[in-house]
Amino acid sequence: MIAAMAATETPATAPSAPAANPLLGEAPPIEVGPIEPGSAQYRMPPSMELSPFRQALQFGARPLAFLTKANRQLGETITFRVPGRDTAFVLSSHPDNAKALFTTKAELVPSATAESPLRPIVGPNSILTANGARHMRQRKLLLPPFHGEAIAEYTRQIREVAEREVDTWRAGDEFPLAKRMQAVTLQVIMSGIFGIDGEPAPGTAERSLRDETRFFLSLSERPIWRVVELYHQGKMEPHGPVKAVMDRMDKSFYRVIAERREVPAAEHGNDVLSILMAATDDEGRHLSDEELRDELVSLVLAGHETTANSLAWTFERLVRFPEAYGSLRDAVRGDDRGDEWVEATIHEGMRVRPVIPLVGRRVQTDWRVGEYVVPVDTIVSSNIITMHHRPDLYPRPYDFLPQRFLGVKPGTYTWIPFGGGTRRCLGAALAMAEQRIVLETIVRRSDLTYADPEPEREIHRNVTLVPKLGGRVVVKRKLD
Ligand code: HEM
Repeated sequence: MIAAMAATETPATAPSAPAANPLLGEAPPIEVGPIEPGSAQYRMPPSMELSPFRQALQFGARPLAFLTKANRQLGETITFRVPGRDTAFVLSSHPDNAKALFTTKAELVPSATAESPLRPIVGPNSILTANGARHMRQRKLLLPPFHGEAIAEYTRQIREVAEREVDTWRAGDEFPLAKRMQAVTLQVIMSGIFGIDGEPAPGTAERSLRDETRFFLSLSERPIWRVVELYHQGKMEPHGPVKAVMDRMDKSFYRVIAERREVPAAEHGNDVLSILMAATDDEGRHLSDEELRDELVSLVLAGHETTANSLAWTFERLVRFPEAYGSLRDAVRGDDRGDEWVEATIHEGMRVRPVIPLVGRRVQTDWRVGEYVVPVDTIVSSNIITMHHRPDLYPRPYDFLPQRFLGVKPGTYTWIPFGGGTRRCLGAALAMAEQRIVLETIVRRSDLTYADPEPEREIHRNVTLVPKLGGRVVVKRKLD
């Protein structure tokens, strides 16, 4: 288990696929990467003939459909504009662009997350929004508790939480799976980050932390949040009602931190908060309360909805592709290739529905992408979702075919749901462990089907791609 997880945590280095695999292919190479300023004339990629407002609206309403249409009309590299931002976003679905963004020196390609609508929520001290030396320092502090071997320690808790969830299901139940998965991933994250195991007692700081976090997260699921998100574009601080709700949530974070500071270090557990409180940087400094708060909120936000929706999407696809579901079920319940099928199914789920559809870097130099040359300070992004649907990389791209990845490591630059380089998702090993255990538990103990055979539309919420109806399923049969 440990070896398997460590392998997923470090980026894969194997070539994307054996040549014989008819379900995997290659893209013709392009010229891409940093270039000497002034060495070539600027040429911006084309943009959809829509106002920035309409582009943002259409992207938010149907990211995959909008970006696919744009690529079909304009080619694999496009310019995308959003209201309230002067910066142009250049989106490329070519894997060589991903490789260049992930391997160029970090100072030349700082992450654009610092400017995302997450910034006012996670605060100025978060790993998500830091760049340069501050980012490296935070990554060094946070890496140990998210390393594959450390994650192996949580597998028992993850399994218990997953089994408890499925225990409550009955044949005939109908529900949006994303909601159930959020309950699971919130418990896992609370246990891994704060050491809160099971139900915290009423009146405790841990209980209020869990409830306030839940409340905040539930607000972000309402349609009105889309307006709030657009309003916060380019802003650095929370405003209006968001600020009021955040103040309440922050109070509970600070209360947990204050109580934990009272406990002698020797009695601390191995949860992330304890590890962060004990950690010092190169100059021997501990993290301040504000730094701890920003880091903890970031981890809860980054790790909760992403993993839950990734699982919900995988089931949304599985119940509509009975052959894939049947093969997985047979493998999990019968033969000895269960682990391989589980892994391949997760890889295929994250290919067709990467919950973070774009990752961007604000280039600090002129940048070439194939026939285009874009100026310094442009946000150049990897268009993960349309790259994952390129027919040259993934023949039959819209089908759900886990067998593409059976016994095959996904390509480092052709399968990038966790981004890459020095900003690659810090929680990838945890997210993979959760998905493996939860998927296996559900497939082993239940037969699910769709509530409506129509595929669920994808919408963009809080920087993640979520199924419009939350991945509605019906429990056909429950096994004990
Ligand atoms: C299926 C689940 C998840 C997906 C698809 C996902 C995806 C991503 C992506 C695309 C990035 C940006 C990478 C880049 O810019 O190159 C990222 C960053 C990050 N993720 Fe995840 N993530 C998931 C789960 C988690 C979990 C469980 C945690 C931790 C609790 C987590 C913590 C982080 C952090 C801290 C970063 C920032 C890393 C940095 O900037 O150095 N993620 N994630």
